Amino acid sequence: MSGQLQIRRLVKSFGGVQAIKGIDLTFAQGELIGLIGPNGSGKTTLLNIIGGYYNATSGDVLLDGQRCDGKSPVQLARAGIGRSFQVTKVFKRLTLMENMLVGALAVPGTSRKAAEERARAVLETLLLTRLADQPASSLSGGQAKLLEFGRIMMLSPRVVLLDEPFGGVHPDLKRFMYDKIREWNASGVTIILVSHDMGSIFGLCRRVVALSYGEIIADGLPEAVKADPAVLEAYLGDNHAA
Ligand SMILES: Nc1ncnc2c1ncn2[C@@H]1O[C@H](COP(=O)(O)OP(=O)(O)O)[C@@H](O)[C@H]1O
Ligand SMILES: [Mg+2]
Repeated sequence: MSGQLQIRRLVKSFGGVQAIKGIDLTFAQGELIGLIGPNGSGKTTLLNIIGGYYNATSGDVLLDGQRCDGKSPVQLARAGIGRSFQVTKVFKRLTLMENMLVGALAVPGTSRKAAEERARAVLETLLLTRLADQPASSLSGGQAKLLEFGRIMMLSPRVVLLDEPFGGVHPDLKRFMYDKIREWNASGVTIILVSHDMGSIFGLCRRVVALSYGEIIADGLPEAVKADPAVLEAYLGDNHAA
């Protein structure tokens, strides 16, 4: 199991608006990439295409050399692409354990017992064991993000897409999330992290890709991207600039 992701000449149009304008990108297995750019630059759209939530207008996406565009999110999750959402998606009325089992039990050949054991182990690493039988509605926003991480881990992904995982999360919990992201990455998982939180991006990632109006304006080491005139210009007037 590898986790190389290749994006070729990718275009996505919404009516007259080209949200992604012919992007080429290759992510090696085990990279932890920060994806930045002002509001509306195409970050979420790119994750939505990689994750199978949108079809590209043209171009393609390859996971370990196999085309994966045109597949559904469920098929892609089984193929090894997991993602979190800008607006956290957990089932509030289900318990944490039930949330953990939803995706896992849909994988053919998974026994309930094995899935529960794995869910317990994952909840343990996320320090959520004591809440396992509580409804997800009892979680704070940050804990709900952790549960979302847990659900992704259940599918043992090769590639993980994280869309704004730190929004509204308490600083202590944020540091804990950094540890989890680093552990995940150290085990060989390729991670694409979208965040407005520049401290998090520059603290975690050794490669940063900057988008503006659907085009790549910088790609490289964090220090170089941070100082890139095109990046500074793209953020001028954007009130999220850090
Ligand atoms: N479902 C959609 N329908 C129409 N336009 C969209 C849709 N999703 C995104 N867009 C447009 O695509 C552009 C990029 O949006 P998005 O990917 O959400 O940016 P970001 O995540 O970087 O803030 C914006 O102009 C946005 O209005
Ligand atoms: Mg977005």
